[in-house]
Amino acid sequence: MQTTYIMIKPDGVQRGLVGEVITRFENKGLRLVGLKQIIPSNEIAEAHYAVHKERPFYSGLIDFITSGPVVAMAWTGVEAIKVARNLIGPTNGREAAPGTIRGDFAMDIGHNIIHGSDGEETAKYELELWFPDGIAEWQRDAESQIYE
Ligand code: RTP
Ligand code: MG
Repeated sequence: MQTTYIMIKPDGVQRGLVGEVITRFENKGLRLVGLKQIIPSNEIAEAHYAVHKERPFYSGLIDFITSGPVVAMAWTGVEAIKVARNLIGPTNGREAAPGTIRGDFAMDIGHNIIHGSDGEETAKYELELWFPDGIAEWQRDAESQIYE
């Protein structure tokens, strides 16, 4: 089992795609273990995107990600990091295949709806950054919820 950090970016929140994105992750079979909405501070945004510090798009990226609320999530499943990246699709929405989140909803590189961790080390770093108090530990057990 892996847990990956997923974040609906300000464009996804502003466009009302939060439910749509969560439904796709739930339908796939991933388990939601962390969820909160926050307006990122510069500090957390810079820590999150530290790897891109020298890239030309960095300052625009920080401005964008701090421009409004994001939905920070943690999702668990077998190979959850790869599974989530496949659901999300490639960075550029115009090149992402239909059926992926970016392929279905994004038309640009920066405003691409959603972030997903790209490896185990990154996932650990990002989960600790966005969920410093930890995430929920629970197992799926619908039967015991349906019957009292
Ligand atoms: P993410 O980290 O957000 O899941 O996206 P990614 O792995 O597909 O893309 P990455 O290379 O890690 O880039 C991080 C985010 O920076 C923005 N970006 N803009 N203008 C540009 O050329 C450019 N390149 C990247 C995107 O918002 C990308 O998701
Ligand atoms: Mg990335």
